[in-house]
This record gives sequence, C-alpha cells and structure tokens, in this order.
Amino acid sequence: MEAQVINIMTYEVIGSKDKAVAVIAYGVKTPKKLAKNIMKTHKNIKSVLQKTGERTGVYRIHPCKLLAGNKNTEVIHKENGFSIKVDPQKVYFSVREAEERQHIANMVKSGEKILIMFSGANPFGIAIKKKHSDVYITSVEINPAAVAYANKNNKLNKINRVRNICADIRHAKLEKFDRIIMPLPETAISFLDAAYHFAKKGANIHVYTFNRSFNEAARDVADTCHMFNIKCHKVGEHKVLPYGPGIYKFRIDLKV
Ligand SMILES: C[S@@+](CC[C@H](N)C(=O)[O-])C[C@H]1O[C@@H](n2cnc3c(N)ncnc32)[C@H](O)[C@@H]1O
Repeated sequence: MEAQVINIMTYEVIGSKDKAVAVIAYGVKTPKKLAKNIMKTHKNIKSVLQKTGERTGVYRIHPCKLLAGNKNTEVIHKENGFSIKVDPQKVYFSVREAEERQHIANMVKSGEKILIMFSGANPFGIAIKKKHSDVYITSVEINPAAVAYANKNNKLNKINRVRNICADIRHAKLEKFDRIIMPLPETAISFLDAAYHFAKKGANIHVYTFNRSFNEAARDVADTCHMFNIKCHKVGEHKVLPYGPGIYKFRIDLKV
C-alpha cells in the first residue's frame, strides 16, 4: 500500500497495510475522540500519537504523546516502491516529502558520487538508489537512532554502495562529491560553506530553506554564498511544500 494520507491537515499516517501509526497534528481539538475513530476505521493503524509541539532540538523530532494503541510505534513505510523503517518518535520522517524525493532522484545522473547531509533514516538515499543502482551515496546524520534506521533501510531495500555515517557534518572527514543534498530547511544555509568544501568543480548543490517567497529564498542563499566566498550560480528553484501561514519550504539548486 502506498502512503495513506487521509487528511493532511488533521493527521498523517506512516506505515503499511499491516502496521501503521497515525500522527495527529498539534492543536487539533478532541484528539482522543479522533484517535478512537481512526483506530476503529483503519485496522492497519495500531497506534495514534498526537504532536504536542513544534519540531525541536538538533534531531528535529516532534514531541508526541500516545493517545491510543500500541506504544511500539516503529513501522515500515511504503513509498514509490521502496520501504523506510522508522519510529517517528525517535527520528525525523515526513510522508509529505515523497514527491520531493522523486524530484531529486530524477535529477541524478548515472555513476554520480552523492553526499546527503542531514540524512535521517535516509529516505532521500533510498529513493535515489531505487532509480540509479550505480551511484555512490554517503549519508551523514547526527542522530544515532536515525543512522541505525538508515542501516536497516539499506538491508530492507537490498541496496549497496550507501554509506551511513553518524557525525556532525561540520566534523566529517569526506572526499568530494558530484551532488550534495541539504534537507535541513531551518539552518541548511548556514552549512553552505561545508557543502562547498565537499563539492567537486561542476557539482550540484540542493539547499532547502523556509521563506516567504522565491525572491527571499534566493536572496538569502546568494547573500550566504557571498559571505562564505562560494563560487556558484543558481540553476533552479522549487516551492516544495507549505510550512506555516505565508511560509514555504523552498529548494534552491546551485552549480559550483
Ligand atoms: C529535517 S531532518 C531531514 C531528515 C531526512 N533527510 C529526511 O528527509 O527524512 C534533518 C536531519 O538533520 C540532522 N542534523 C541536524 N544537524 C546536523 C548536523 N550538524 N550534522 C548532521 N546531521 C544533522 C537531524 O538529526 C535530522 O535528522
């Protein structure tokens, strides 16, 4: 079964037809009643969580409380022909980014060496590998629980040439890459100097940012590149998803 997103504003469902977890949005009224209804209507949903706040901390995880069902909230999410094992209480994961993962996978070229910064359980890496078996992927993530899931996801999807490193990207010792993906919209821009350091001449860098408009997003990226003396130019831009009132997640594509 593909992603079961019933009402994206009220709750999202992560998992499969066998076992899924529903995560009710922060601030939804009468959440216990909703949790009961969800469990009654969808037999695959074994747990219902509610977000109790915005994503916090370095690991970018929503604080949640269990409203109904099993306290074990580890699931295997099915997306575009691959599987992602994840516990949303321990690791960042968003079903809403499935389309964006495909956009990135579609830009990748045969044989590339790719760096995924801030890789979480590595849904970007798996999505890319499922389309391009001959690429080499290095994923760097600071949350050990996320890296453990990334390693499990390599096995689950029977993929190789994906190296998952548990580290702060600022302290990682790595070679140079053809493509660098930076999916940490809150602060990715401030890591552009690290991305540049790891970029081959001609490399593509995809940086994510929260802004009000394309112009603001492009200006923030350009100002930061100027500050870090990064020599690159913008080759693309994309509005990924709405984030809050008047705020969107944007992707800016750079060429070194
Ligand atoms: C927005 S999440 C994206 C996770 C994953 N790419 C995905 O799409 O599901 C950002 C991730 O960056 C990680 N992170 C934050 N700061 C980091 C750093 N300095 N070095 C490496 N990883 C970092 C967090 O733990 C979190 O898992």
